[in-house]
Parts: sequence; C-alpha cells; structure tokens
Amino acid sequence: MKKAIIIGATSGLGREIALNLQRDGWTVGVAGRRVELLKEFAIYEQIDVTAEDAVEGVERLVEKLGGMDLFVNVAGVGFQNKELDSVVEKHTFDVNGYGFMRMVGWAYNYFKREKREGHIAIVSSIAGTKPLGTAAAYSATKRMQSHYLTALAQLARMEGVNIKFTDIRPGFAATDILNPNKHYPMMMSKERAGRLATKAILRKKRVAVIDWKFAVLTFFWSLIPRCVWERLTFVKN
Ligand SMILES: NC(=O)c1ccc[n+]([C@@H]2O[C@H](COP(=O)([O-])OP(=O)(O)OC[C@H]3O[C@@H](n4cnc5c(N)ncnc54)[C@H](OP(=O)(O)O)[C@@H]3O)[C@@H](O)[C@H]2O)c1
Repeated sequence: MKKAIIIGATSGLGREIALNLQRDGWTVGVAGRRVELLKEFAIYEQIDVTAEDAVEGVERLVEKLGGMDLFVNVAGVGFQNKELDSVVEKHTFDVNGYGFMRMVGWAYNYFKREKREGHIAIVSSIAGTKPLGTAAAYSATKRMQSHYLTALAQLARMEGVNIKFTDIRPGFAATDILNPNKHYPMMMSKERAGRLATKAILRKKRVAVIDWKFAVLTFFWSLIPRCVWERLTFVKN
C-alpha cells in the first residue's frame, strides 16, 4: 500500500487531499498544529513547521507510517496586509518560507537517502505567478516556493536522485485562509479544489493550476508586462 505524508492537513485543502488519498487506497500520515483535528486520521503527529523540533516530528510520523512514497506540503498562511505590519509579514515568511523549506528539504534528503523513487508535491498559489498588492509577503513566499521546487527538480537531476515534483497552484478556494467577509472571484469549493489537486498529484503533473478558469486567467496575466501590472489598481485581492 502506498504511503503519503501530508503536512497541513487539519483543515482546508490539506485535509481534502488526505481524505482523497485515503479513499484512493493510500495510507496517510498527517500533521498540523491543531492536534484535535488530526485525530480523524489514524496516523498523525502534531507539528508546527516553524518550531525547532519540526523535523523530528516528521521523522516520527514517517516512522509511524512505516515509510513514505509521497510527501505533500500544504501548510501555509496568508494575510492581506496593506499596512505591511512586520509581525504579520514575518509570520508569513516563517511558515511559508522557513517552515516550507525545512519540510521540503527534509523530504528531498529522505528520498535521496532511500535511493528509490519518491514524489514531493507542494501547494503554492497563483499568487506566486503574479504578485497581489494587498498580500506582498504571501505573494513573495508563494513565488519562492515554486522557485524552490524548480531548483530541487534540477538538483535531483544533477545528483541522479529519482524524485517527481508537483507544484499545485490553486486559485481562490473556500477555506479558512480566506476572509469570510470578502468576495473572491471564481471561488471554488474546497472539495472541488482538493479533488483537482489530488488528481494532479496522482498523475504526477509537474505544475497544475487549479481550476481551469484560473489556468486561463494566469495564462493571460502572464502576458501582462510589469509596468502594466503595477497600474492594475482594481486588483484588490
Ligand atoms: N484557499 C485558497 O484560496 C488558496 C489559494 C491558493 C493557495 N492556497 C494554499 O493552500 C494551502 C492550504 O491552505 P487552505 O486554503 O487549505 O487554508 P487552511 O484551511 O487555513 O489550511 C492551512 C493549513 O496549514 C496549516 N498550518 C498553518 N500554519 C502551520 C504551522 N506553523 N505548522 C504546521 N501547519 C500549519 C494549518 O494547520 P494548523 O493551523 O492546525 O497548524 C492548516 O492545516 C496554503 O499553503 C495556502 O497558501 C490556498
């Protein structure tokens, strides 16, 4: 039976991905900070990706699972922060930057050590393809995540390490990360976004924008030059 670790599975897309993989016959080991919410799964570990002992937590989780074929990092935070409050910006960098890098870096070295095929998937965002003025740290860290994965994909080839990489880039999905009092265009249900994300992982797609509407949107906005993008003041999210 195939084994997957999902970091950030207490709610939202991570929980959906974990449930979908489980339905597909995978054994899953899940992590997050809110341990009460992890208990719906048989194998779990309370992990704060920013904590000093986060890597030890993942090691314990893999041991409980009895190995790992797939590592999915979904853990992330996002805030609109027009005030550029540095506490908020730092927290975003801590989780989406430092925490992400430790988790994914650990998974890379795990598969390298094991000397067999592995698969690392991340959930970044369409905000990593074009930055949003109201969420500078979020956009910047999501860009970093996609770049980091690309660098690891090149490193794996350099080192002859057999790892597949998947970068999931969702558009707006109705989860706790979004402000419930705001309107978001083309918003998907978390179930639909989770289903599409799982499908992309199982197909080992290298990059998947979720869903097709956001794929069309990101294609067109990738054509917009920076000098025009910076003038798009109606983009409020
Ligand atoms: N929903 C969207 O519209 C959307 C769009 C694009 C990208 N995304 C990305 O999707 C990912 C999942 O977010 P979501 O939308 O599903 O929102 P969510 O329901 O808030 O899920 C966030 C997950 O990250 C975990 N997490 C946060 N800080 C953590 C930490 N320090 N250590 C360990 N786990 C931590 C949370 O668990 P605990 O709080 O229990 O620790 C939770 O499981 C994020 O990376 C987000 O950037 C979401």
